[in-house]
Amino acid sequence: MDTQQEISLLEKEVGSLLFTEAEIKAKVEELGRTITQDFKHIATTEKPLIIVGVLKGVLIFLADLMRELDLPVELYFVDVSSGGNQVGGRRYSELSTRMGEAIQDRHVLFVEDIVDEGLTLSYITRMLWQKNPTSVSVCTLLSKEAKRIMDIDIRYIGFHIDPVYVIGYGLDYKEQFRNLRYISVLKADEE
Ligand code: IMP
Repeated sequence: MDTQQEISLLEKEVGSLLFTEAEIKAKVEELGRTITQDFKHIATTEKPLIIVGVLKGVLIFLADLMRELDLPVELYFVDVSSGGNQVGGRRYSELSTRMGEAIQDRHVLFVEDIVDEGLTLSYITRMLWQKNPTSVSVCTLLSKEAKRIMDIDIRYIGFHIDPVYVIGYGLDYKEQFRNLRYISVLKADEE
């Protein structure tokens, strides 16, 4: 089976289209311009902006967003682990010692793919603050306010969406669909 056929099979599982590849690209460029503007007098080569992402959903958004930032940056990831602390059905690893040291006295941009109830975001930002950064700003591509249970401050939001399960552009359903170039509702969530 060639790649084109495999993608077509994937699409059979996909519900209504939410954001096209072009709409996502335009939004990522806009976010990149805003963040560059906000940090251009703050981030330096001696003290770059520290970017932190949570694997794996943020991978594609973060790869695109980073290349829109005209700033010195350093990149770190928080991984989902088999150990660590349980948050909303997931387990997150502790911040590595190296990352903890890097964050101290620095401005941190924590990047998320999607914020739903807000548990992940509030847990990770709390862990980041324990390492004494100068500031922690949050950027998410998607935000589902209707399901929010935590009171959190998100500085940069790409799109506000209804409380539906979405896939594509890094977001998965049972580890699949991350490779779609667009964002759609999961078909099973529409039926
Ligand atoms: P929260 O802790 O409820 O805010 O959930 C955040 C995490 O849940 C995200 O980082 C995603 O990994 C996952 N998640 C929440 N909603 C969706 C969705 O609609 N599609 C895919 N993953 C989602």
